[in-house]
Amino acid sequence: MVVATSIAERQQGRRVVQPFVKWAGGKSQLLGQLLPLCPPRFGCYLEPFVGGGALYFALQPERAVLGDLNAELIDTYRAIREDVEAVMAALERHRYDREHYYAVRALPPASLSAAERAARFIFLNKTGYNGLYRVNRRGAFNVPFGRYRRPPRLYDAENLRAAARLLARAELVAAPYQQTLQAARPGDFVYLDPPYQPLTASANFTRYTSAGFGPADQEQLAEEVKRLTQRGVLVLLSNSDTPVVRARYRELGIPLDIRVVSANRRINSDSARRTGVTELVIRNYQ
Ligand SMILES: C[S@@+](CC[C@H](N)C(=O)[O-])C[C@H]1O[C@@H](n2cnc3c(N)ncnc32)[C@H](O)[C@@H]1O
Repeated sequence: MVVATSIAERQQGRRVVQPFVKWAGGKSQLLGQLLPLCPPRFGCYLEPFVGGGALYFALQPERAVLGDLNAELIDTYRAIREDVEAVMAALERHRYDREHYYAVRALPPASLSAAERAARFIFLNKTGYNGLYRVNRRGAFNVPFGRYRRPPRLYDAENLRAAARLLARAELVAAPYQQTLQAARPGDFVYLDPPYQPLTASANFTRYTSAGFGPADQEQLAEEVKRLTQRGVLVLLSNSDTPVVRARYRELGIPLDIRVVSANRRINSDSARRTGVTELVIRNYQ
């Protein structure tokens, strides 16, 4: 029998684990507001748009299924889980230097071992422009070198080892989110943090992989939330705070708790300047 434990019980005595990549839309800054909104008890934790995994590493669930469409990212999680010491040894061979950056960027990942590929991914993420992930049509990473005042720290050994211990209990899926969700059972907890609905019609979609996430994808995801709700799965979803998102979830016809969280500690009195700083959190439980 699987006994669900509470978040408080699970977190007792555990060190805080930080994401090992910088990820666009990373939730580290919002954890203080997201953690109290998580269900106190659940079966398995599923995060189908895991990215840097800020909420996963903070919650440290007993069992988890983590997925992302970005196969290089999921391969990096796998390499850390399988042999974290080899990944760290490979990271030690990298240094913050423009020429080295472009030489590493030019290496075909397939020519490297799993640990070297993971180290390359982390190195490019930490030293490339803004921690961006962008590939060209042929799937080759093409983010330019990032200029930082101080050499970025590539990894923290204790943190990476703690991440590896946690990942030993996780299943990893490199696939569209629907596939990860197939594992969801009643009583499980799903955190959905998709690429966001753009704030304005003209804004570009956030791109993390060669495939975009457009309005039709946003619609399908909302339908998925409805199906999960009907199956008794606990769902927490993040998205941008826009009228389109509010209307889409209100019109699903299921009872949802929709609230605003703010990435800004100081509340900006000028509401126009707050745009993009507040986000929506949508839950199908109280
Ligand atoms: C907003 S980010 C998640 C950020 C994450 N919560 C964090 O704390 O770093 C969205 C993620 O969804 C992934 N993604 C985009 N489209 C996807 C799809 N159709 N299925 C699964 N993952 C997808 C992207 O690669 C990206 O890592």
